Amino acid sequence: MNADRIRNFVIIAHIDHGKSTLADRFLEVTETVPMRQMKPQYLDQLELEREKGITIKMTPVRMSYQLTLGESAKVEEYVLNLIDTPGHSDFSYEVSRALRAVEGAVLLVDATQGIQAQTLANYETAKKAGLKIIGCVNKIDLNPPRLEAVVIELAKLIACGPEEIHRVSAKTGQGVAELLSAIVEAVPPPVIGNEDQALIFDSVYDDHKGIVAFVRVFGGSFRARKETKLLAVNEKFFVKETGFFSPAMKAEDEISAGEIGYIATGIKNPGVLKIGDTIGSRPLPGYLEPQPVVFVSLYPEEGDDYDGLKNALDRLRLADAAIKLEPEVSEVLGRGFKAGFLGRLHFEIVIERLRREFGLDTITSFPAVIYRVRTRRGEEIVESPKEFPNENLGASEPMARLKIIVPQEYLGKVLGLKEIFRFSDISTENIDSHVIVSLKMPLSELISDFDDKLKSLTLGYGSFSYEIIGYEPANLIKLEVLVAGEVVPGLTRIVFRPEAGRIARKVAENLKKLLPKKLFVQAIQVSALGKIIARETIPALKKDVTGHLYGGDRSRKMKLWKKQKRGKAKLKESGRVSIPPEIFKELLKK
Ligand code: GTP
Repeated sequence: MNADRIRNFVIIAHIDHGKSTLADRFLEVTETVPMRQMKPQYLDQLELEREKGITIKMTPVRMSYQLTLGESAKVEEYVLNLIDTPGHSDFSYEVSRALRAVEGAVLLVDATQGIQAQTLANYETAKKAGLKIIGCVNKIDLNPPRLEAVVIELAKLIACGPEEIHRVSAKTGQGVAELLSAIVEAVPPPVIGNEDQALIFDSVYDDHKGIVAFVRVFGGSFRARKETKLLAVNEKFFVKETGFFSPAMKAEDEISAGEIGYIATGIKNPGVLKIGDTIGSRPLPGYLEPQPVVFVSLYPEEGDDYDGLKNALDRLRLADAAIKLEPEVSEVLGRGFKAGFLGRLHFEIVIERLRREFGLDTITSFPAVIYRVRTRRGEEIVESPKEFPNENLGASEPMARLKIIVPQEYLGKVLGLKEIFRFSDISTENIDSHVIVSLKMPLSELISDFDDKLKSLTLGYGSFSYEIIGYEPANLIKLEVLVAGEVVPGLTRIVFRPEAGRIARKVAENLKKLLPKKLFVQAIQVSALGKIIARETIPALKKDVTGHLYGGDRSRKMKLWKKQKRGKAKLKESGRVSIPPEIFKELLKK
């Protein structure tokens, strides 16, 4: 393919502003997907994505496009490579990878909502990546009352005239054809080199083709049976197949400089390929390694299914390099992992994918951050709350800088969250009808239920993006939860000391509501520095299991008491209080 006729671009937007729907219209206008096969959010292929209505993974697709030149009716053929990207902050790493593979970006803004936090964050990343940015407002079919104001806000943001902002309805298709031709005209064609260089921006595993690398070819060309190399790991291989995305993988003899497609490597060991690596003869600059910030202990619910869990996680990691794993052993739960994620949503999605795509139920601990604690031995890095030393000379915790965007009228409510989420360093800036609140808060507070709180306080109009900015000293203490007298290691948490009493009472109350009743009474206790500071009791399913037996039937009574006793022993011996992620979320509620 002549590189002059290639345009590579992404759609970037805040969550729910209509990226996937706009991508659907592109697929239709270019007849990439036949009408009868079209279904909404076509590129969201994970079942979970379709159900939750959010994009988790980026998805590439190649489209053919015919540009009619002015009045001459002359037609030019183009290849458009589109990468649909996720909107949520937790997945901004996916977006940053996609941006390295393209030359242009459509910055899409829902005209009923206006500019939101991820609009700004994505805009800044796209600008840094040097992309041509095309501004576009969506959902004009809804006659948004603030349409003109939003157009002006967006034009101001990307420093262009309001007349350059496109107006579309991704739902009805209005304005979409014009937007496509503007993309062809405004986005520069790829610059190409001669040396073989393909940047891996994603990958999947295929039983027949081995690891399939999703690539942007920067130089040279690749075809089946050609010998080439994964440069970071120095692994030679013969290309098994090349092709592009239609959006399903479609084999083609060759993919060459400027194109986006795939290279099937035939390699069967999922650990070999690194996203960000180069295939070819000279390495391209890779990606920054994603830094996981939320950690959990992760064990198979069936104690002997460690290999199954490992296998499933390896598969998921092929397409999600941000999941970090380290083996961990627990006396109670056997072999498992310490797993790192980019945020709480990322964690929840991975657990859900393990369940749905691999049929694996897991036991996890509270999502936690990494603390630094000074002890007499020096500074310790505490990756797991249960290792937090009670005796210490001071601790520090990771901080996040947030940009929250809310309509003016909600500013007071947002600032009202200052105490419970420990905001500091707050500043505000007005942009038309909205305020950008910039502030710092501990990451541990952010991964509790900050997102839900902000959404409900602002009726869904508030949004935020965040970045991690380093460590600050904090007054922290370890809380342990005991159920039936046994510490449940997964429920150990580090909290802000002045809040410890309140949090302990809340956790005990919530656990009482959430844990299933057993045949026997169970005590729930929360302790700090060896002292019980909150307690609750889960009543037995039936208070006296023998109550319904009259008088003399002693042997039956004994039998039931024994059963009850066995129940207790079983609980003690296993200590396995299995807590699904949804319950963690409940428990983290302020
Ligand atoms: P994420 O993938 O989660 O980041 O969301 P997205 O930006 O891909 O948004 P999506 O395409 O899933 O659209 C969000 C919602 O807005 C869906 O219910 C769409 O049907 C709706 N929507 C998208 N575009 C339009 C539009 O032009 N008009 C109207 N009325 N609704 C739209």
